[in-house]
Amino acid sequence: MRVIAHPDPTSLAEAAATTIVDLITSIDRPRANIGLAGGSTPKDTYERLRQREVDWSRIDLWLSDERWVAHDHPDSNGRMAAEALVDHVPATFHRPRWSEYLDAGDAAAYYEADLRRLMPDGIADLVLLGMGTDGHTASLFPGTDGLGEETRWFIANEVPQLDTWRLTATVPMIQRARTVMVLTAGESKAEVLAEVLEGPDGRYPIQLLRHAKGDVMWMVDEAAVSRLTATVIDRPSG
Ligand code: 6PG
Repeated sequence: MRVIAHPDPTSLAEAAATTIVDLITSIDRPRANIGLAGGSTPKDTYERLRQREVDWSRIDLWLSDERWVAHDHPDSNGRMAAEALVDHVPATFHRPRWSEYLDAGDAAAYYEADLRRLMPDGIADLVLLGMGTDGHTASLFPGTDGLGEETRWFIANEVPQLDTWRLTATVPMIQRARTVMVLTAGESKAEVLAEVLEGPDGRYPIQLLRHAKGDVMWMVDEAAVSRLTATVIDRPSG
């Protein structure tokens, strides 16, 4: 695991875009895939990513998690990713189905079938994640049933604290990925980040990354690491 700190959210986004390009360019297979994070932090990274020189025709993009809303809903992670990145590049975008007549669990099952066609071994090349101030990641929230899923790749997860359903990659799906990159910025994340990285295991969903099989990199800004006292922090910008 590496914690790579940048002075501010802008330099974080710029560095994240560069690292993502380097990662997918280094993959010597015909196609590569990226699970895109939702929320607000990744937007700047996606907008920078779309300006980079990438052979997007060999890239499959999917969603690490999605809200259970229509594709054009303002809260949709897929809509954010489309507006910031996918609508601007010739990558193949795999979004979960949505219909008011569809059950979230069925939509997750259909999506998992899509992902199984995309990566038969279940090993994603790169999964992008964010972290909430409660230590959730993707749509794996504290105390939710989805945290206990040990077999499925992608599920519907009821989130009582938000009074909603979400669709999310599961713990094993994330832990199998070749690389996981967590994009986290801001003072509001500092306290939970210190507990996640330096406190006891098993208290926050995102601590699943302690047991990840692949490379884990935390792409953060100085505000987010301001409470760390026992973690080695790489500072590429010096
Ligand atoms: C979502 C995300 C979620 C997000 C965190 C951090 O659907 O909201 O997948 O896990 O990454 O909540 O969100 P911010 O980047 O907006 O702080």
